Amino acid sequence: MIYKKPMDGLSENGNGDNGPASALAGVLRRPVVIIGLMGAGKSSIGRLLACELGLEFFDSDREIEADAGLSVPEIFERDGEAAFRAAEKRTIARILSGGGPLVLATGGGAVMNPETAGLVCSKAVSIWLRADIDLLVKRTGESSGRPLLDGADRSETLRNLAKQRYPVYEKADIVVDSLDVPCQATLNEVIGKLYEHICHKG
Ligand code: S3P
Repeated sequence: MIYKKPMDGLSENGNGDNGPASALAGVLRRPVVIIGLMGAGKSSIGRLLACELGLEFFDSDREIEADAGLSVPEIFERDGEAAFRAAEKRTIARILSGGGPLVLATGGGAVMNPETAGLVCSKAVSIWLRADIDLLVKRTGESSGRPLLDGADRSETLRNLAKQRYPVYEKADIVVDSLDVPCQATLNEVIGKLYEHICHKG
């Protein structure tokens, strides 16, 4: 689905130019993939970014759910985590197979699969949305439809996942801090850093 801004065709300054987002849309030729721990804001920021750029937005968890006809917790429960990870790998490969610009928010564990990480690295521009663990704990709430957090000490689990995953997340092309601020501020940071990266590294 392509998300349109409410005043499609018009702009913040009324002359059809929405500044940094237009500039980025003009140079972006590859998919943008957002990675990071649960609660980092990957889906929210990804959806807003796609909207700003007039691109299609994908959320790998939602795609997996649509394919399976089951929710992520139901897949974990019925088929186990390994089956979910296999579906995640296939789904991301399918989304990235076209190679053109789009925005993809991945599940937090997706790039821990080396094949998926390799695909993201070769086909896309990657952004790690990095957030403080305390903020992630706050954002993921009590129950979240996230099987890895259900019934666990969320703070401890997220800290352990951070230890395992940060060495992989750190390889992203761009790192943006996801702070406790309105989404628009994080989005602006993402747009600015993406533009800079593409202009300098292609
Ligand atoms: C997971 C993160 C979840 C989802 C699944 C496993 C993980 O997605 O893919 O529950 O391993 O970190 P979000 O990061 O969008 O919450």
